[in-house]
Amino acid sequence: MQALILAGGKGTRLRPLTVYTPKPIVPVLNRPFLLYQIEILARAGITEIVLSLSYQPDKIEDLLGDGSDYGVKLRYITEPSPMGTGGAYKFAADAIRETTVVFNGDILTDVDISSIIAFHREIKSEATIALVPVEDPSAYGLVETNAEHRVLRFLEKPKPEEIAKTGINTINAGIYVLDPSILDLIPKGENCSFEYNVFPSILERQKQFYSYILKENYWRDLGNPKSYLEAHHDFLGGSIKGFKIDRSAVSDIATAASVDKTSVIGAGCVIKPNARIIKSSIGPGVHIEERAVIENSVIWSHSRVSSSAEVRNAVIGRSCHIGRNVMVNEGAVLGDKTMLPDYSQT
Ligand code: GDD
Ligand code: MG
Repeated sequence: MQALILAGGKGTRLRPLTVYTPKPIVPVLNRPFLLYQIEILARAGITEIVLSLSYQPDKIEDLLGDGSDYGVKLRYITEPSPMGTGGAYKFAADAIRETTVVFNGDILTDVDISSIIAFHREIKSEATIALVPVEDPSAYGLVETNAEHRVLRFLEKPKPEEIAKTGINTINAGIYVLDPSILDLIPKGENCSFEYNVFPSILERQKQFYSYILKENYWRDLGNPKSYLEAHHDFLGGSIKGFKIDRSAVSDIATAASVDKTSVIGAGCVIKPNARIIKSSIGPGVHIEERAVIENSVIWSHSRVSSSAEVRNAVIGRSCHIGRNVMVNEGAVLGDKTMLPDYSQT
């Protein structure tokens, strides 16, 4: 079994964080996000993974290399320009010989992929799509199924009236198991979307198209800053299980500083006396000065938070400078190298 991770989107909704860092490798608790996906694929015994890239591919390849550090074999396929989700799968056809797990590269989940594969095989499906119930399906692909788990309808980014009409809330979780026969439905060399083209075409041709509902699993699309920050709150609050959190980094933390047990501190940080860190993720090489408070926040590497500044429910990019007595308030998302002069408020 192989896997293809769709990781070529521009990550526009996650700007400014994705201006210099492509979405697949934004740090989550100081680990490039894709490593969480690679970990759950490896857990299901899938070690041959193709990364389908388009936006800033070199940064991803330079960081993850051949995958040997993570016990998998990574192969990179870069589109000259974005081909769409289905087009990207077709573009990788030469690397796909068998049934493949296709994974949207921005989904954080603890699902057991092998149970979806087992279902796909048992029911003799050609295309299986994982579904998850959400409160508001409008930002996703709404999927209607019958009692036998057959997919009946696929509605990408449904309008409120369409959602109301169907009365369902199960959406495409961005994890598919696809037989190579699905490749034949996709035109070569053209832009093509799974959601708008391939799935409707599978339905039209009445192929074996089934759904697998995720029930007890954690699931989140990390596509915007709010969701990115909430993923950290979920991790640090203990609602995502099964991934190990690395708290072993060596930093210079003053004895008079207070860092709660849930927070994660990267290597080489300097945390000065009377600084307070609560339920936050602090990247490597960050300086936090006297009396600064960081709460429910994420700070990327090499930023500085000066004395008596307060950062709450916010995300701070790489190499930012937060001046003295600055207030960074709920919802702030600061791009790399942001400079906030003393006493600023966001
Ligand atoms: N290689 C490549 N080329 N990858 C792409 C391209 C492309 O042209 N376009 C998008 N991707 C990747 C993105 O990087 C992302 O990982 C994944 O495909 C999905 O794209 P998003 O832009 O994040 O889509 P979405 O979140 O609006 O909707 C999709 O995901 C939802 C679940 O989170 C759809 O699949 C929905 O149906 C689904 O519910
Ligand atoms: Mg997405």
